[in-house]
Amino acid sequence: MAFDIEMIEKVYSNLTSRVDKARALVGRPLTLTEKILYSHLWEGVPSIVYERGKDYVDFAPDRVACQDATAQMALLQFMHAGKSKVAVPTTVHCDHLIQARDGAKQDLAFANKQSKEVFDFLSSVSNKYGIGFWKPGSGIIHQIVLENYAFPGGMMIGTDSHTVNAGGLGMLAIGVGGADAVDVMSGMSWELKFPKLIGVKLTGRLNGWTAPKDVILKVADILTVKGGTGAILEYFGEGAKAMSCTGKGTICNMGAEIGATTSTFGYDDSMRRYLTATGRQDVVDAADKVASYLTADEEVYANPEQYFDQLIEINLSELEPHINGPFTPDRGTPVSKMKEEAAKNDWPIKVEWGLIGSCTNSSYEDMSRAASIVEQAVAYGITPKAEFGINPGSEQIRFTIERDGILATFEKMGTKVFTNACGPCIGQWDRAGAEKQEKNTIVHSFNRNFSKRADGNPNTHAFVTSPEMVAVLAISGRLDFNPITDTLINDNGEEVKFLPPQGEELPTKGFAVDDPGFQAPAADGSSVEVIVSPTSDRLQLLAPFAPWDGKNITGAKLLIKAYGKCTTDHISMAGPWLRYRGHLDNISNNMLIGAENAFNGKVNSVKNQLTGVYDEVPKVQRAYKVAGIPSIVVGDHNYGEGSSREHAAMEPRFLGVKAVLVKSFARIHETNLKKQGMLALTFANESDYDKIQEDDTINFLDLTEFAPGKPLTIAFVHSDGSKDLILANHTYNDSQIGWFKAGSALNLIAAGKF
Ligand code: F3S
Repeated sequence: MAFDIEMIEKVYSNLTSRVDKARALVGRPLTLTEKILYSHLWEGVPSIVYERGKDYVDFAPDRVACQDATAQMALLQFMHAGKSKVAVPTTVHCDHLIQARDGAKQDLAFANKQSKEVFDFLSSVSNKYGIGFWKPGSGIIHQIVLENYAFPGGMMIGTDSHTVNAGGLGMLAIGVGGADAVDVMSGMSWELKFPKLIGVKLTGRLNGWTAPKDVILKVADILTVKGGTGAILEYFGEGAKAMSCTGKGTICNMGAEIGATTSTFGYDDSMRRYLTATGRQDVVDAADKVASYLTADEEVYANPEQYFDQLIEINLSELEPHINGPFTPDRGTPVSKMKEEAAKNDWPIKVEWGLIGSCTNSSYEDMSRAASIVEQAVAYGITPKAEFGINPGSEQIRFTIERDGILATFEKMGTKVFTNACGPCIGQWDRAGAEKQEKNTIVHSFNRNFSKRADGNPNTHAFVTSPEMVAVLAISGRLDFNPITDTLINDNGEEVKFLPPQGEELPTKGFAVDDPGFQAPAADGSSVEVIVSPTSDRLQLLAPFAPWDGKNITGAKLLIKAYGKCTTDHISMAGPWLRYRGHLDNISNNMLIGAENAFNGKVNSVKNQLTGVYDEVPKVQRAYKVAGIPSIVVGDHNYGEGSSREHAAMEPRFLGVKAVLVKSFARIHETNLKKQGMLALTFANESDYDKIQEDDTINFLDLTEFAPGKPLTIAFVHSDGSKDLILANHTYNDSQIGWFKAGSALNLIAAGKF
């Protein structure tokens, strides 16, 4: 569990030497973000200045973290890399596969039974390959990373979009797909487009009912869910310094909701206090020696408009508590406007549930501030009007708040304490009555509130707000209750008014934990056996994909010409399919079932060219596979947008699709296809998409001359015997062509050729 102080000192040594060189190179003061990026370049400081938002650059992250849903395929792939140990410190966290229903004890016991083979697999692979393993019940990945591993000036990647949470401790922490994680775990570089920079200047000071959560709810309102795309947000100013480290974590966490690459804050006293309280004085000592490198150069924050691509300024003294939603986290409503907005939009006023915790708001400060509201309700003699639940972020937090009587305070209000895990935040919530699909309102302190996310009910209006606001809204039972101005009637019929929340940033008696739930890996894992039952329907060992046979692909059938939006959700759906994330054969039964067939306008209905009968996409593809017939997929614009899940590339590869030819790709999906040994191609002339017919047979004419920058020629032979020659562009470089030839990037790594 121990953080690696030697690794951190090495990072700081690079930081000082490289930042000075980078400053000389760019010829101006540097932002914190640039300092961290330049000090983590794979090949040191270059001789050219990278262009933000344009150049793709190789980085060397310091750490990797994986959660249990995404770790399965990542580790199955890593097992093929032929390495005896991970190349950088890596941890696996069991948090997504635990349902919230009856309470922590029962729910954890049920999950341990239901997902035993998955947890056992993750535990044994971790043990074998030098990976720290956090057992079910230990907590949520990002809270544990903040408590144990994050450090100022570091760079990490994680197979979860809220990895960005670690920005609260001054890191650049970025969510990636499993294939990227495998590369870094195998000792390879990690590529990222050099990001644009958004500066957020926080003036004034949080006060009264306003919390760090309100900063990001306001930023989300300003930037919308797409406004941070391709950018890193760097927060600074007196308001930032005055805020707790965990509050900074909350702000960075929800940077994922505006599409930002990540967010960060400069090193300050709040980080010193948090590192010390979590037993990392060594990190403070090391960071203090390079403190000026762990924040932007002074001139940057003095004249930020000159150094950031975009600048936002928020006066915290004037910021109101916000309640964002429903259905999207960027629909912000200040508490003073909620009465009007709720009435105007016909949002259900009655609050049915209040939920706090998750990776977003699980700090001691969050819990103690929310508890101070509950204490008032108890003292005033108010029976809460809504149900209330908590998912503590880690066992350390749970143990500490239990010791300090905070949990007992919540329990006085009948609060259900769920497992230290994601629970309702990822839809792992067996909410009684949700199946009736009634229109209702819940409030929570999580980050996402898309339709159906928490309880599967499309009519649940979920609103995101701070933990203290969740507490007061749940107690009042009203979405439009404004604690700043409104009063409540207690059980004796008396009018009472809440005082603003009070909390402690850190526990005065220090953090404590009995069993944190950590399993250190074996010093030598060579004799550790990884067990995967051949009859398992959830896990399946991977076999290497076959290398290219050196010949042109001929006689291929068109599997589907997808029309319109085709995201990674259309290609490899989530929801109930989450269960099969570690079983490539089984999850392949969802391949492209969400894509619309351009020829009949239907979803999951394509013509089997062997029988002439329409059938489901995976079934038709399996028929081609059995017959030994290759196939190709044709798509529209921005094919594969959405998540970075590698399943969307592995499934077609596994089922025998050879190429994906589209008008344009979402870049991460294009790279994922390349990594899995597929051909990812784009129409040289977009209008050629219209020439593709349903019964086409496809022959590649010059694949044997596959080379960087040289388009490929493909003949589409129509059923009437006529044919169209179509030119397909590609972006493969020499090493990526090597991936194709070897069958996958992983095959090359395994052969030691990387
Ligand atoms: Fe888990 Fe929700 Fe965070 S799913 S990792 S608690 S965003």
